[in-house]
Order: sequence, then structure tokens, then C-alpha cells
Amino acid sequence: MSGGVVGMDAAGKRGVMADGAGAGGAVAAAPGGTAAGGPLGRDMVARAVGVHKEYMMGGEIVRALQGVDLDVYRGEYLAIMGPSGSGKTTLFNMIGGLDKPTRGMVFIDEVDVAQLDAYELAWLRCRKIGYIFQSFNLLPALTALENVMMPMLFANVDPDEARDKAVAILRRVGLGDRIFHRPARMSGGQQQRVAIARAMANDPAIVLADEPTANLDLHTGKAIIDLLKELSRTLNVTVVSATHDHKMLNICDRVVWIRDGKIERVELRENLQITVGSIDGQEE
Ligand SMILES: Nc1ncnc2c1ncn2[C@@H]1O[C@H](COP(=O)(O)OP(=O)(O)O)[C@@H](O)[C@H]1O
Ligand SMILES: [Mg+2]
Repeated sequence: MSGGVVGMDAAGKRGVMADGAGAGGAVAAAPGGTAAGGPLGRDMVARAVGVHKEYMMGGEIVRALQGVDLDVYRGEYLAIMGPSGSGKTTLFNMIGGLDKPTRGMVFIDEVDVAQLDAYELAWLRCRKIGYIFQSFNLLPALTALENVMMPMLFANVDPDEARDKAVAILRRVGLGDRIFHRPARMSGGQQQRVAIARAMANDPAIVLADEPTANLDLHTGKAIIDLLKELSRTLNVTVVSATHDHKMLNICDRVVWIRDGKIERVELRENLQITVGSIDGQEE
């Protein structure tokens, strides 16, 4: 975990707007995604350093994260596994720039999130990060096409271009024949595919998926996991997914085990295979 200090020199810079315009995640796409060598040695796309997050609840302090250090590498598929209440969503909100740590630092694409004002943060979220939620969170009044176009329109993409690109992404996620459907007329699996297409719309550097299969049946959940994996590999997009779903273990590059707001351990999938039997029976 210590190999990735590269890039930290640049980290404090506020150059996100200028740099970011040309340096979107998709530009870094390496055809075929070089799986050889594993995630280590790739450049970093996000980094948490000594992150603490505390909430006040009825006069009590809830220590949701207690000193989390995590490097996230470009193009990897990272699963964050842990019981309910262990801090997965809180960690997501940090890596996704949705909330700021009480203590510690978060870098997204080498930018220190704490240095950004509200406008810069909104810019970063819109262009660099795609979000996928358990409950899909599509806008019900909009068609699949309009839902996918939305982040591009926020990013000032020309509407015709946004439309063409939305159609292409929807085809890619297997919904070419559903582009004018509204969410209510789609199954859960189809809605999650629209959400994935929406998350990919601005060629993000990172896609954050918080329990993306929790509202889906086994078969549909597996299809969604496979789709995320395929997109991550072919587009070289980093996927970070919080989950209880052990199906995710079969396809991720690394697993971060989190408990009580602390990272217990980080494992490469190839090492995980050895212990997979005990995972099925719930570890420890
Ligand atoms: N907005 C909040 N206010 C107070 N406590 C919170 C808030 N969000 C999360 N928590 C608490 O922080 C801990 C971690 O929550 P969370 O990150 O949602 O865990 P997970 O996603 O792993 O289920 C839990 O104890 C939870 O109750
Ligand atoms: Mg959660």
C-alpha cells in the first residue's frame, strides 16, 4: 500500500477545473484493461488518509469512521464489504465528495476535496464521479434517455451530442429498446441498468455503487455485477462498490473488509480464493 505516493505532490493543487477538462477518466482508457500485474502499480484515482467521520446523534458522538487509509487505483474494481452500520456508506460519501471528513484528507483524482468550494465540488462530482444507489434513484417523470442525458446537460454537453451518447450507452447496457420508457414501466434490473448508464454518462474516473444489488433478485443482481465488471474493464473506469453481496467477491480486484469504522484488512482477489470457503460460511 505504500507504493502509490506518486501524485501526492500534485495533490494540494486547486487546478481541478483547468486540468480536469482534458483529463477526464475516459481519456485514460487503456484498451483491453491491463489486468496483468493486479491493481498495484497503477496510478491512484482516490485516496483517503487518516479519515475520521463523526456524527452527533442526540448529544452522543457516533464515530462512523475511525482512521481510514485507502488507496483506490485507476481501473480497479474494489468491493467494500462489511456488516450494516460498519461505515460503508459514510466512506462512500467521503470518496464521492458528498461529505467531508471530520479529520483526515480525501483526494479525488489528486485534488484535495477540502480545498474545493461548493462550485468546484459540484463540478468534480458531475464530471469525475458516477453514483449508483440501492434504490436506483431515477427521476420518475423522465424517460430512460432523459435520465441518462441529465448529467451531460448539467455538464454543458450539447443536447444533440448528449442524446446520441445516451442512446449509445443505453444500447451498451442492453436497453436499446427501452429508451423512451419511464422508470415505472421498467423492472428493477432495467432501472439499475439505466442508473449505470447515467453514472457512466460523463466518462467518470470513479463509479461508486452503494449496495447496487440489494433490491434485486439473485439472477438480476448477478447480471448487474457482470455489467459493472464489463464496463469497468472495457472503459478502464474504477468501480468502488459497497456490498453484502458475496457474488461481488468473484469479480472484484480487491476487497476492503470494514468493521466499526475501521479497515480490518484489504485483500487481492487472487489471495481471497484460498479463504473463499470460510467467507461463504461468514468469516470469523
Ligand atoms: N447522518 C448520520 N447521523 C448520525 N449517524 C449516522 C449518520 N449516518 C450514518 N450514521 C451512523 O454511522 C455509522 C455508519 O453508518 P453507515 O456508513 O451508513 O454504515 P453502512 O453503510 O456500513 O451500513 C452507523 O452507526 C450509523 O448509524
Ligand atoms: Mg450503507
